[in-house]
Amino acid sequence: MATERGQFNSRIGFILAAAGSAVGLGNIWKFPFEVGQGGGAAFVVLYLTFCFLLCFPVMVSEIAIGRKTQLNPVGAFKKLGHGNWSIIGLLGIIAGVLILSFYNVVAGWAFGYFLEMVQGNFGIGKEFGTFITDVTKISLYGIVFMGVTAFIVSRGISGGIERAAKILMPTLFILILGLIFYALTLDGAMEGIKFYLVPDFSEINGEVVYSALGQAFFSLSLGMGALITYGSYVSRKQNIVRSAALITLTDVSIAFLAGLMIFPFVAYLSQGSMEGVEGGAGLIFATLPGVFESLGPTLGIVIGSVFFLLLSFAALTSTVSLLEVPVAYLVDEKKIKRPYAVWGMAIFIFLLGIPSMLSNGSVEALTSFVTLGDDDKATNFMDFIGLIASDSFLPIGGALISIFVAYIWKTNNLNEEIAIGRENAIPIVTKYINFAVMFICPVILGTIGIITILDRFFGVQFF
Ligand code: PHE
Repeated sequence: MATERGQFNSRIGFILAAAGSAVGLGNIWKFPFEVGQGGGAAFVVLYLTFCFLLCFPVMVSEIAIGRKTQLNPVGAFKKLGHGNWSIIGLLGIIAGVLILSFYNVVAGWAFGYFLEMVQGNFGIGKEFGTFITDVTKISLYGIVFMGVTAFIVSRGISGGIERAAKILMPTLFILILGLIFYALTLDGAMEGIKFYLVPDFSEINGEVVYSALGQAFFSLSLGMGALITYGSYVSRKQNIVRSAALITLTDVSIAFLAGLMIFPFVAYLSQGSMEGVEGGAGLIFATLPGVFESLGPTLGIVIGSVFFLLLSFAALTSTVSLLEVPVAYLVDEKKIKRPYAVWGMAIFIFLLGIPSMLSNGSVEALTSFVTLGDDDKATNFMDFIGLIASDSFLPIGGALISIFVAYIWKTNNLNEEIAIGRENAIPIVTKYINFAVMFICPVILGTIGIITILDRFFGVQFF
């Protein structure tokens, strides 16, 4: 049965695929910006602490549930004898489908920008607003991106997902290192690095702590069963705890490196002044093309294309994991053949993403979709879906997964599963994982989920 579903062929293959899921748009544009806003190195310390103390135990739990049951997130809870809890899996699958619907839109922009850079069209940065309302073009890029994602997923676990990760992840790493070396030679680079890395503890407040946590969780692809699904393809020879540590480490390192690459670029453009640096989509899509332009035509094309290719690769290994979650569900639970499940889901999710695609200026009703909480500005459809699917569902999913593991499945079963394939176990690590899933994760993640919902949807002010 297990072999029919497919399996990762090697330890490194699984680690690269899971790290590929984790490393994505979140690392390359969101992380550096949040570091800049949240007091530089002070934020980095906070983020590292959350990744290892809070997220790592949840990751171990997800992989263990997956490997134990060799099933998708819904089937897994049923197989462990707790059918009611499969609601967590179902919520996760819905979250994954929704996240992919808008994530693919942004991935399509990244891919589109790669094509523009290859042609030397640096003016695109100033026309970002026009670019994202060019419905014909961005639909086409979205279709291509979803198509490539579906192609990889349709090839199965070792022949598709593992193979793609083995090519894309090392390439991504080399490209990022290359760009850092280059960026550091630019005038003003050190100003950017200072802004990024010199800690300013006065910037740390409730809001910063809260966003560091949310970022850590989203960035590690937790709370929606992506790692239950990938874990279900892991062999009993593998050491779950060590793999989870390596996946976390890779994700954190790439996020950190992304900052070393981006801030020197930005500082170079602004001649060392880091006042009023714009974050989010604007930083990558509006500002960076200007940086590449100033490098001169040839070098600009090379560096610019490499950058957006790297961004597309990072996004691709994430979209692959997002698509695999509902596909595994359809294959295991509904007995649908993989190719039908893959292409059917891909088309469905692409269509579901159309309102998001149109909500960045193309259709007014979607662009000013709702006014939330105490905002004066309307939130667009895409951000609204993000708020529900990633900001609210993921932490709540994470809290429920830890509650399930600690109090329903019980930590002795978790410990039994993680002991398989684990040589030279360090007892204190196991003790900590148990303690975290029993007390720390449910409380902190549950609180975060509830705060988000109250703050964003009901306007209750926390910060
Ligand atoms: N971790 C990915 C990123 O940082 C996004 C993601 C979330 C992927 C949840 C899969 C599941 O971009």
